[in-house]
Amino acid sequence: MSAASSHGRESRAVRVIDPASYTPGFSYRGSQLYCEGVSVAAAAKRFGTPAYLYSRASIEQAYRSMDSALGKLPHTICYAIKANSNLGILRVFAALGSGFDIVSGGELYRLRKIGVAGNRIVFSGVGKSREEIREGLRARILLFNVESPAELDLLASEASRLRVRAAASIRVNPDVKAGGHPHISTGHHSHKFGIDWATARNLYLQHRNSRWIDWQGISAHIGSQILTLTPHRQALVRLAGFVRELARAGIALRYLDCGGGLGIRYTSEEPPEKAAWAAELARVVRPLGCHLLIEPGRSLVGPAGILLMRVLYTKENRGKNFVIVDAAMNDFMRPALYDATHPITRALRTSGALARADIVGPVCESGDCFLQDWPLGKVAPEDVLVLWGAGAYGTVQTSNYNSRPRPAEILVEGPRTRTIRRRESRADLVRGE
Ligand code: LLP
Repeated sequence: MSAASSHGRESRAVRVIDPASYTPGFSYRGSQLYCEGVSVAAAAKRFGTPAYLYSRASIEQAYRSMDSALGKLPHTICYAIKANSNLGILRVFAALGSGFDIVSGGELYRLRKIGVAGNRIVFSGVGKSREEIREGLRARILLFNVESPAELDLLASEASRLRVRAAASIRVNPDVKAGGHPHISTGHHSHKFGIDWATARNLYLQHRNSRWIDWQGISAHIGSQILTLTPHRQALVRLAGFVRELARAGIALRYLDCGGGLGIRYTSEEPPEKAAWAAELARVVRPLGCHLLIEPGRSLVGPAGILLMRVLYTKENRGKNFVIVDAAMNDFMRPALYDATHPITRALRTSGALARADIVGPVCESGDCFLQDWPLGKVAPEDVLVLWGAGAYGTVQTSNYNSRPRPAEILVEGPRTRTIRRRESRADLVRGE
């Protein structure tokens, strides 16, 4: 099925509720949409469009609700920075006392750039290069989540070369099915992620007295946009069993890292509360005496961000209405990549029956369609529109396709705004060519 036809199907099925009603940090003053104390339309005017706008309060609230639900259990929330790695956003997490989950040397570079200590960082990913492993060792990171026997060999040899012990855990593939779109599900035995338990057990035992590998933990991450607690619980109960088995073999692990994956509400989804998720994890981990690590990404930043855009044109083709906007698939890939439905509303609220239209960007592909047959209402050129739920996997997945400069990113803090990434220029487009 093409992305576009799937959007159409979803849009009709979805009962459209204004996302402002369930998105912390956003509300109306009269008919004007506000992000904290800042008028969204005024921000669009000041910073131009397309632009990403983030609510700091929304991020802080999400972080704190997880943190307090974990209570006294020793824990570290390691924000998965792949969801949004803008330095301005990372600084918000650093100020909250968060830890971080990375998957590349580039992500490590970002964290070092803002002064995050190595012992606040865990390193996941199936394809860490020799250089990345070396960088992680030099930074004395908290944990390497090892994803293959070959990676473990490389980690040991690089550790011996640098004369440091590598704090390591095995990312186990717990063989549970979870996650939204097939592209973002990771914890089943058919996926490339993690190591099966039989192999993992052997590796733990083989390297039990290793000079260079210091077994500190065990980890798993089963998928993303998971909308029930069941798969998390299943994976965690399995992990807990492994921890006990290893303890009986004389390997006492300090950290249990159960990844991220908690889903959020984009339209009509009903994900578990962040606090309920955290409390459930705590319940299973508490009796083990381990320090819990979690790696949430989307659930911390997804709802906090919107993508602002302007209407360029409206047109009708054979009875079908199109709204052509100045943002495109290169600015926000999720609809084209995963058939994801992100509501779009007007920054100026109006009432009455809402006319339907396809909302499309200027890129020369039919897949450059944010929503099909969507009840947007009557709009005119220059009107500001808001695409919701864009804080996670938004800017990090942008490209310059069609030689379009990437959007600006703005952080809202109460009544203030801060440009945390300037809009790319034409010169940026050809830099390095
Ligand atoms: N930890 C590991 C090892 C991961 O691979 C991921 C996400 C996370 C944590 C954070 O998961 P979250 O809490 O955000 O679900 N681009 C896709 C999502 C890819 C997720 C990849 N891994 C999307 O836009 O839906």
